[in-house]
Amino acid sequence: MTSVHALPPVIAAHDLTKTYTFHQQRAGLGGALKSLVRRTYETRLAVDRVTFDIGRGEVVGLLGPNGAGKTTTLKMLSGLLYTTSGDLQVLGHTPSARKHEYLRRIALVMGQKTMLWWDVPAMESLLLHKDMYGLSTTEFDRNVSELADLLEVGHLLNVQVRKTSLGERMKLELMAALVHGPEILFLDEPTIGLDVVAKARVRSFLADVNRLRGTTILITSHDMDDIEALCSRVMIIDHGRLQYDGGLDELVRTARPRKLVRATYAAPVDVGQLDGVTDVEVSGTTVELEADRDRAGAVMEQLTRLGPLVDLDVADADIEDIMRDLFQRRSSL
Ligand SMILES: Nc1ncnc2c1ncn2[C@@H]1O[C@H](COP(=O)(O)OP(=O)(O)OP(=O)(O)O)[C@@H](O)[C@H]1O
Ligand SMILES: [Mg+2]
Repeated sequence: MTSVHALPPVIAAHDLTKTYTFHQQRAGLGGALKSLVRRTYETRLAVDRVTFDIGRGEVVGLLGPNGAGKTTTLKMLSGLLYTTSGDLQVLGHTPSARKHEYLRRIALVMGQKTMLWWDVPAMESLLLHKDMYGLSTTEFDRNVSELADLLEVGHLLNVQVRKTSLGERMKLELMAALVHGPEILFLDEPTIGLDVVAKARVRSFLADVNRLRGTTILITSHDMDDIEALCSRVMIIDHGRLQYDGGLDELVRTARPRKLVRATYAAPVDVGQLDGVTDVEVSGTTVELEADRDRAGAVMEQLTRLGPLVDLDVADADIEDIMRDLFQRRSSL
């Protein structure tokens, strides 16, 4: 019998907190002059006592509305920002110490920022990373060819970055982020602004990286399709507080315990009385309703008896809708 050892988490955050202190500029020229004489400082609590562990090889989605504290969290994890209080260990390091041994084991990709030099081909930036991270030529060549294949960007490596499209550039960004073989990848909205095809390519690439290399991934995205495609676990943060940490399925089940059922018939039907359903809507030959999750089977049976069916579709509530409900409820509290 093999014994199972619980591996220590690669990311351990306990009461992680960030308060920004910033200088409030007064309006107008007079205001600017006054600001020079007397500076007024304000503070903003961006991340508020957040506690979580992430295990090696997990892909976790960090979700929340604008201003929730997602980017701030990723910046603390990757060592770009000091924490205000709390404990944070990533791969056994304190990220803000920015030790080389730490930085070479992680990568941060921000959808809205580039780490590539704009005026030269991406290969130049990759070579810089080779030096920075002390990669051997063999290791570098192997990584470049593997990543170029997965991303289908071999033909772009020697093109000036400014001449590439947004989708192509994001693929090159991912390549630059991964060329040193980081164990953890922090992604801040990596698909922002991309078309549906490019988004799908980026998602499947990230899934491959996780599967082939065992890379741990923490990703933020406002696109729920990204999250559904990649993450079995999500953390929801709102006003800096962690509101949910668990399975995506479980979130859907508890937030919206009902199934959406849509039946299309060959001819209009008389719905009459159906058991265990709510929100029945009939339009022409189509009947839409919500059914209790555990009674969905019985509801379908009733529907098949109403008349000849052309199509029957059962779905969970849209995760997009669930998020909207969650955030609206909180902001109106
Ligand atoms: N440099 C800064 N100085 C002061 N306040 C900041 C700074 N950066 C962010 N904030 C504030 O901290 C809070 C959290 O911001 P953060 O960028 O982490 O949110 P986010 O969840 O990434 O939002 P989005 O989905 O819009 O990217 C916001 O209220 C924001 O205004
Ligand atoms: Mg952000």
